[in-house]
Amino acid sequence: MSMLFKPGKIGTLELPNRLVRSATAERMADADGRPLPKLKALYQELARGGVGLIISGHMYVHPSGKCHPEMMGIYSDELIPGLAELAEAVHGAGGRIAVQINHGGMQCSPETVKETIAPSAIDADFLKHPPREMPPAEIELLIDAFAQAARRVKEAGFDGVQIHGAHGYLISQFLSPFVNKRSDKWGRGLVGRMRFLRAVCRAVRAEVGPDYPMLIKLGVKDAVDGGMTLEEGMGVMTALESMRLDAVEISAGIGGGRSSSIRKGIRSAADEAYFRPWAQKARKRTRLPIILVGGFRSQRVMEDVLSYGDADFISLCRPLICEPDLPNRMRTGLQERSSCISANLCWAEQEGEGIACKCPLEKLDR
Ligand SMILES: Cc1cc2nc3c(=O)[nH]c(=O)nc-3n(C[C@H](O)[C@H](O)[C@H](O)COP(=O)(O)O)c2cc1C
Repeated sequence: MSMLFKPGKIGTLELPNRLVRSATAERMADADGRPLPKLKALYQELARGGVGLIISGHMYVHPSGKCHPEMMGIYSDELIPGLAELAEAVHGAGGRIAVQINHGGMQCSPETVKETIAPSAIDADFLKHPPREMPPAEIELLIDAFAQAARRVKEAGFDGVQIHGAHGYLISQFLSPFVNKRSDKWGRGLVGRMRFLRAVCRAVRAEVGPDYPMLIKLGVKDAVDGGMTLEEGMGVMTALESMRLDAVEISAGIGGGRSSSIRKGIRSAADEAYFRPWAQKARKRTRLPIILVGGFRSQRVMEDVLSYGDADFISLCRPLICEPDLPNRMRTGLQERSSCISANLCWAEQEGEGIACKCPLEKLDR
């Protein structure tokens, strides 16, 4: 009996199966962050392909948090009508869609922001330019920016909101002792470093109301020396229920960019589900539904993770760039394994290109 195609629930949101499209920056937006028509077509294709829940590419909640060119924005009410069209398109194709909201902090590109900001003015090799430390008033402003963005998500008709708390972006920066060196209430120890996330969740919940699905993608461990340890990450995990979240998707934090969260070369079952040990630990710390991402390629491994109870939902990014209809192909027995070879060639390298599978065709077993 397939666990993968059993219905599931995230808060009040009922889903037809356990497959989630993990947030994927599509790079299909104009200079103001408005989605282009090709994004609507992509979401419809994903919905028709049978995935239970689509999570949009990250959208910036404030202009100071635009991570890269062609990122979608959700920083103004003027953007609501264009976003509503996306939600409607997905619903029309029989799908469900949540929006991932984000602020890039120190990880924003020099192409999209004049200066970057962070909890503290740190420097590190992987930063394109060192950030400016945020004063308390700016912290409060951005908490509200997250809340207003979440209100827009709901007003546009989406099925839920996901707060991006992973991959070294602003929330991840607050959680991390590598970046957050503050001595005021927004820093010092895990409770202080968690305060920004807690305040964002409180403000979002106040805007969207008690029943609206509110998810988080959480980086539970940094990939830099002096960063957040797994034990601290599990401390954050334990606190999520009190932040009134409805589900947690597990990933990595600072330094958790392409090399650690988006691993290359997944060839065998042993390479798959690379964050599974973290999910197993998380299970003991929270009663929230767990969404696990990272390297899933075969139905066998997905079913195994679900049947052991290590996660409740399986989240896929690159396999759905490669084959948006993979869920239906698995459900009908046409295909057991994604054709994705995890070469990480799917990024858009030039403006106007958008994400696309660019791996050699002969490798794709279709
Ligand atoms: C092109 C591309 C864009 C991505 N954009 C996002 C994003 O907007 N938000 C996010 O949380 N993760 C993003 N990720 C990370 C994925 O959601 C996922 O965590 C990671 O790729 C591992 O899953 P996979 O092995 O199924 O690809 C992106 C990954 C890729 C390859």
